[in-house]
Amino acid sequence: VISTVPRTSPLFIVVPAIECDVRAGKISLPEFIVKCPSHCRETKQQVYGTSVFASISSICNAAIHSGIITNYGGKVIVKKMAGQNTYKGSNSNGVRSLSLPKWRESFVVMEGKPKKGVIYPSTLDFDKAPAATTALPTTAAPEPTTTTTTTPEPTTILPTTQAPTTTTTPPPPPPPTTLKTRAAVHKVRDAGHVDWNCDCYGVSLACKVDLVFLMDGSWSIGKRRFKIQKDFLAEVAQVINIGVAGPMMGVIQYGDDAVTEISLKSYSNSRDVKTSITKIAQKGGVSNVGKALAYINTHYFSDANGNRGGAPNVAVVLVDGWPTDKVAEASRLARESGINIFFVTIEGADDNEKQNLVEANFVDKAVCRTNGFFSLPVSSWFALRKTVQPLVKRVCDTDRLVCSKTCLNANDIAFVIDGSSSVGTGNFRTVLQFVANITREFEISDTDTRVGAVQYTYEQRLEFAFGQHNSKAELLNAIKRINYWSGGTSTGAAITFAAEQLFTKSKPNKRKIMIVITDGRSYDDVRAPALAVHSQGVIAYSIGIAWAAQDELEYIATDPDKEHSFFVDEFDNLYKFVSKIVQNICHEFNSQPRN
Ligand SMILES: *[C@@H]1O[C@H](CO)[C@@H](O)[C@H](O)[C@H]1NC(C)=O
Repeated sequence: VISTVPRTSPLFIVVPAIECDVRAGKISLPEFIVKCPSHCRETKQQVYGTSVFASISSICNAAIHSGIITNYGGKVIVKKMAGQNTYKGSNSNGVRSLSLPKWRESFVVMEGKPKKGVIYPSTLDFDKAPAATTALPTTAAPEPTTTTTTTPEPTTILPTTQAPTTTTTPPPPPPPTTLKTRAAVHKVRDAGHVDWNCDCYGVSLACKVDLVFLMDGSWSIGKRRFKIQKDFLAEVAQVINIGVAGPMMGVIQYGDDAVTEISLKSYSNSRDVKTSITKIAQKGGVSNVGKALAYINTHYFSDANGNRGGAPNVAVVLVDGWPTDKVAEASRLARESGINIFFVTIEGADDNEKQNLVEANFVDKAVCRTNGFFSLPVSSWFALRKTVQPLVKRVCDTDRLVCSKTCLNANDIAFVIDGSSSVGTGNFRTVLQFVANITREFEISDTDTRVGAVQYTYEQRLEFAFGQHNSKAELLNAIKRINYWSGGTSTGAAITFAAEQLFTKSKPNKRKIMIVITDGRSYDDVRAPALAVHSQGVIAYSIGIAWAAQDELEYIATDPDKEHSFFVDEFDNLYKFVSKIVQNICHEFNSQPRN
């Protein structure tokens, strides 16, 4: 217990240890020191922001991201700051942080060396601790090897919120705005998860989106509810404040088919759109939502029809009950072409009615997997009005409208190809086929997936860089044209070369993926080069053939090895892993939270 330490003796600083999942917001101190355990990176605890992090971020992973500690853990000083309007995600030191629009509190991390004269609390549980000001002199003494367990007397603790009598300048109190935001976000807890259903993010002033509503005109809905639907749309048009500098809004009515009632360029103010909505007559028919989604994808969001390009495309589907056709595929295609799809399901199927569904869980299949952000179930038509505000807030939260990125169109993939003598001409052609077959599965363009390739022996050769071939046909052609080199095997140097020649030119919004293909043991050490690329956020796959060394394959591969490292006894069996690798890339992509 600290209080038993005689004041005259050198002071031992007890640095409280925390787990990888502890978020800064859980600790209600403006500044404190903690000790992180090792291997937090593997826990993939979420981190939001770069340099300045939202307080829902894991302290230890934010510290790794910032380079304050390595994955082996260590001491970190945390300093709280005011909330920010936006947090930008990035890859750093093997931690992938996410973006977040607005949070009520932030923090920065600093090297865990206490400043001279500053006393940091030795325990983090300050909730009931009364204020005390035991000013202790301090020298950054090593931690005691035998620490008596910490059930510290609260009175010996020095909460930094109380002006200490030491030389510290206490951090400024949080600005009053923090308090206001706190009230607004009361639904969100720091306890370990974010409630994405919370509509606590403010509507951005600009709200520049190209927005279309798909209204249900089927007979099942009836006259009265159709009128409610029109009133709802008119209210949205009013609230969202349509204008050329902000949102543009149109309406499609669907039944058996979809028809454009209002195109994006028809009107440029709320009043005109409202007037036009009141004139829409019910079409009738069934609820072919899938067909309507195909229609928006192929027709509605064309430049000729008013698509502005610089504004995210958003489609809000209103469904009475459930669709009469399948929606998942049409929806996926629409999302992949960049349309953000929201589903507002009114009076959805109850347990008895679920058997009527053409497609079970159609909403989950149709929208981006972001914990309910893109779906709003409404219990009854008469409650629809209440969703105007929450819906408008979500639609205008442009930072989060990026879900059209999929595992197939969001990567920079580098192939690192062993061209050593042991491979042989025939097998080298098989390797190139393998590279081509993987490439073929992705959507290739400068804004989608890009592919680069390096061939190596003792030396390295850049076959082509990211973005050098920007269509699938061109790329497949370039792969075919790679000339077999023949020579030694320096896999480590090749990885470093790929990092320098390819990944330094990776775009920030792409996932960096490296696929190393080798048939033998490397002449140089692969460990350090592999660790270096991992820490740059590269996801590394290793494919070993014949004489490849298992230990090296595992060093090269990102953890867990069994998902990133593959071995085949002969070249002719390479083809077996094409779909597995693509699947794993997608699985990893989909299991990570996105904006
Ligand atoms: C590549 O794909 C072609 C066509 O599907 C197949 O015949 C071939 O075996 C595959 N080769 C490899 C190495 O994946």
